[in-house]
Amino acid sequence: RARPRSSVRRRSRAALRSRCEPPPCLATHLDYEVGQEFRMSQSRKILVVGSGGREHALALRLLASDSVSEVIGCPGNAGMDKPPADLAHKILRTRSGEPLAIAREEGVDLVVIGPEVPLTEGLADRIRAAGIPVFGPSAEAARLEGSKAFMKEFCVRQGIRVARGVIVSSPTELDAALATFPNAPVVKADGLCAGKGVVVAETHEEARAAALAMLTGESFGQAGTTVVLEERIWGEEASVHALCDGERAFVLPVAQDHKRIFDGDQGPNTGGMGTYAPAPVVKPELLAQLQRDVMTRVVAGMAAEGRPFIGALFGGFMVTPEGEAIVLEFNVRFGDPETQVLTLVADGDFGEAIYGAARGQLSDGVLTVSQDHALCVVLAAEGYPGQVAQGDEIRGVEEAEGLPGVRVFHAGTERRDGKLLTKGGRVLGVSARGATLAEARDRAYAAVERIEFRGRQFRTDIGYRALR
Ligand code: AMP
Ligand code: GLY
Repeated sequence: RARPRSSVRRRSRAALRSRCEPPPCLATHLDYEVGQEFRMSQSRKILVVGSGGREHALALRLLASDSVSEVIGCPGNAGMDKPPADLAHKILRTRSGEPLAIAREEGVDLVVIGPEVPLTEGLADRIRAAGIPVFGPSAEAARLEGSKAFMKEFCVRQGIRVARGVIVSSPTELDAALATFPNAPVVKADGLCAGKGVVVAETHEEARAAALAMLTGESFGQAGTTVVLEERIWGEEASVHALCDGERAFVLPVAQDHKRIFDGDQGPNTGGMGTYAPAPVVKPELLAQLQRDVMTRVVAGMAAEGRPFIGALFGGFMVTPEGEAIVLEFNVRFGDPETQVLTLVADGDFGEAIYGAARGQLSDGVLTVSQDHALCVVLAAEGYPGQVAQGDEIRGVEEAEGLPGVRVFHAGTERRDGKLLTKGGRVLGVSARGATLAEARDRAYAAVERIEFRGRQFRTDIGYRALR
């Protein structure tokens, strides 16, 4: 009987593969779905480290995977304290405390680390040393995000094309370095600065002032005492993510973020006000080229230099009007809010793919890319990206989640006395999947309309570049 290539068949093969070499700590049981073949299914328990919208999206996508039965958010947020209605047969909960201690106590099969700071501080190394598989790079590999100077020098060593840059480590070198740029350069603090370490200067004077404030430690303390001056690139930004297992890179659909707080890309920069995927700014041929010449080359280069990269590699690209894509930065983790849409368009057993990558065995066919589209609208608190109000009651989330194709990812939320309250700048990522981008957008905004809290801010034009 002809049968469409179903995801169950693919999953079965993956499950059978792992049956051949069962990891010691893994519980397995037989599972049967009416009308489908028997299959071996696993019940992995996963710890997700972090508390944002990215971590909630990862937690739900892992939980929805056949191979996963339980996810613990560490510390998680109010969205992660129980499973959603459609996953009520599985366990989702939160725990606060030191991630390694919790991973040991809970006997988890895998740890997934969301944010960059614990990665650059070596959390993945400590967990790996305890014999627990972890999806997230070592501190050495995380330097790709933790030091912009390292990233530049690495790319030059490995023949990966980047914008021209000069590394400056004292105020006395600054003027000579500035003079090598015909146009005002972009100024980047070397270390992690919570997304605030880049100044796109309009004039040489502005670049000089920004660089001096960094070099003297005034702007970002130690994180800014080395700076990278970089040639400015004009174009449209694109976020390219790959799941990496130390040798291979599986590239996900291209996402596009909206960094400014107001419609039409006006106002100050934020952590990201909304995303959609796939983003047509990167055509399939260009994506294939970026996979070959950038993402795979990074993974090969890191391995060759003795710091294999396991985890999510996120390249921030600028696509020029000529159709070239130049990498501006690498992040060593999933983007936020890119993850909220990427997890909606990645089909197959996401948990199996991440587990395989963590063990250096990312296998083909476990994960497939959907033909659908997804879009996420961030609801932010009053005052964001500055000082924000907290403790305002949020209403309507359950009603919004009842709409077709909708998922509401929590970020800055907490539950107190049975009420859902705001607790942070980006509060919710209201997301939807649809057959077209327009449908995903309409669904997401219909859900936004159901959710209320005092002073809520959101952009009304997410996806405009692709939809215009
Ligand atoms: P980053 O923290 O490296 O992502 O930089 C923050 C933002 O600064 C990017 O999303 C870009 O909008 C901008 N940016 C960084 N580098 C450049 C560059 N070379 N040319 C133009 N814009 C840049
Ligand atoms: N949305 C951009 C980032 O996660 O860095």
